[in-house]
Amino acid sequence: MTEHTKSPVSTPDLRSRTIALVGLMGVGKTSIGKRLAAVLELPFRDADEAIETAAGRSIAEIFTERGEDEFRAGERRVIGRMLEDEPHVLATGGGAFVQPQTRALIKSRAISVWLRADLHVLARRVARKDTRPLVAGKDPMVVLQAQAEARYPAYAEADIVIDTGEMSHAASLELVLEGLRRHVEMKS
Ligand code: S3P
Repeated sequence: MTEHTKSPVSTPDLRSRTIALVGLMGVGKTSIGKRLAAVLELPFRDADEAIETAAGRSIAEIFTERGEDEFRAGERRVIGRMLEDEPHVLATGGGAFVQPQTRALIKSRAISVWLRADLHVLARRVARKDTRPLVAGKDPMVVLQAQAEARYPAYAEADIVIDTGEMSHAASLELVLEGLRRHVEMKS
């Protein structure tokens, strides 16, 4: 028996609803999301990419030219539209699930999964990239600590919470699948 067939809930049972990954920057929503989509044979969609396409500019440009409030409004519209599409794996930007309206949309139309990891691990990953406006020119650990304090109560409203620690994305994927199976089993 492989890791993928541990529970009576089979892989096809996990394909009936969109699965939205939420959590802080650098936690692996996109990397784990792509792997999850491949295993479940569902499309993978990235909310930040869809926002960039809709706005015709990068996330960093949207923040500088229009400000965070407009970014959040666009994020809510784009995620709302995506949630009307056929079931898929949706990686959301770190702030999306914190916005009450966006969170309500996700909660009503998807299974939400909070990916949580040690902040030091996240800070290391975030420091490797310079595309995130909220950490540009700042100490990632300081930003992440403040975000964790402010955002964890909202993330805790997700249907499933997965602690990924420092493990590989492949190992995290197994935990996510197990969490999803348990959730679906409980709801059926
Ligand atoms: C943000 C996270 C980013 C992106 C934007 C704001 C946040 O997405 O949506 O820079 O508020 O945490 P990732 O979590 O994919 O980095």
